[in-house]
Amino acid sequence: MFLLYLFSSFAAVSGVLGSSPSYNGLGLTPQMGWDNWNTFACDVSEQLLLDTADRISDIGLKDLGYTYVILDDCWSSGRSSNGTLVADKEKFPNGMSHVADHLHNNSFLFGMYSSAGEYTCAGYPGSLGHEEDDADFFASNGVDYLKYDNCYNKGQFGAPETSYNRYKAMSDALNKTGRPIFYSLCNWGQDLTFYWGSDIANSWRMSGDIYPEFTRPDSRCPCDGDQFDCAYAGFHCSIMNILNKAAPMGQNAGIGGWNDLDNLEVGVGNLTDDEEKAHFSMWAMVKSPLIIGADVNQLKASSYSIYSQASIIAINQDPKGVPATRVWRHQVPQTDKYGQGEIQFWSGPLDNGDQVIALLNGGNKARPMNTNLEEIFFDSYLGSEQLTSSWDIYDLWANRVDNATSSSILTNNSVGNATIYNATALSYKDGLAKNDTRLFGTKIGSISPDGLLNTTVPAHGIAFYRLRRSS
Ligand code: GLA
Repeated sequence: MFLLYLFSSFAAVSGVLGSSPSYNGLGLTPQMGWDNWNTFACDVSEQLLLDTADRISDIGLKDLGYTYVILDDCWSSGRSSNGTLVADKEKFPNGMSHVADHLHNNSFLFGMYSSAGEYTCAGYPGSLGHEEDDADFFASNGVDYLKYDNCYNKGQFGAPETSYNRYKAMSDALNKTGRPIFYSLCNWGQDLTFYWGSDIANSWRMSGDIYPEFTRPDSRCPCDGDQFDCAYAGFHCSIMNILNKAAPMGQNAGIGGWNDLDNLEVGVGNLTDDEEKAHFSMWAMVKSPLIIGADVNQLKASSYSIYSQASIIAINQDPKGVPATRVWRHQVPQTDKYGQGEIQFWSGPLDNGDQVIALLNGGNKARPMNTNLEEIFFDSYLGSEQLTSSWDIYDLWANRVDNATSSSILTNNSVGNATIYNATALSYKDGLAKNDTRLFGTKIGSISPDGLLNTTVPAHGIAFYRLRRSS
């Protein structure tokens, strides 16, 4: 029993289960970028991609790490007589390689989309049975990333091996092109993707499609709660629905292969600022890709300052690559004076020995919440150095860029002399190693071995801290 406990502690703390090296050398940290689907759906064009890329660059988001510009569904007009995919000439008058060249010249990477089915989800030609031809098409057009969907799969699912083989065909085809192409599975977690995803891909969607609601249930996204093996993924999944499904899966993700909780809804729909902060923090903490889903030309200043919060991105890009674990989850009844809903506590190890923690309030009113070292270091053995040390508490949102600065960056289309983090100049890894203060938030107190960390967490909100051993 004791030995078993020791092993499971070690596995959880070090991320052993998910730490096999990347199958193709890519995805050493979760991918960051922009994808058109959440805001523009099928309304895609060369102009949208190039304008968006310019804007991402001008307002400093590229230098924060958002380097993949991903074109989702609806770009094609069919196949030529010899079977090659053809880009829609009205939407992409100069072809896809023109888009790729423009992006590459501006230090972006280019993502495209297809489906492991007869058609894509919006009914365009899919790649099932055309894997090698289509992989050649993507490689020869300078594509660096493939999002590979699951619609119209001709019933080829229902057992892990069936789905694995269908997705492996494209993995092999991409490898055969010789071009490094990040492979992002979009099979919605069907057939337990977390068990086999990292053998053939760099990330895998683990749920149905997200929508900009924090907790609202929707019958089109069944399986609420911890149901990680949802047979019907659906869509209109709330942020808390997806997070709860992802909770047990962190143990199977790690360097080279990540759980993808879907594109970010920050700046999309009517989420509150607290909801957007909680959403962004949790996606960062479980090491989901950080893919902007908003129209960056219409971004609110508050949403901009969320996307640009480098101390949160540094959690996501931490070199250890271990997704945080949910330590507890409670349902609060309607009779509770602080409102009803669910509350959670999450904790995860970071490369330099720090620990990231989240007190998450899914309830409908602000509430006092607390935690202690026993919960924070839930896997540590009694008497361990973690439990007997004092820890300084850094609030990861306290040094957020103020609204006036964000507004001026958006209006002037330039970072100007604002001190936005620049990961092109100093990578997150090096910035963390150098203790760059912008990556560490602001110290707000400390916690001793027998102390209690008390805070008030807003409705649908988060308290998000980095703990550093007190000197
Ligand atoms: C599916 C995917 C989405 C998006 C659409 C495009 O629903 O899960 O992310 O790519 O298809 O049609």
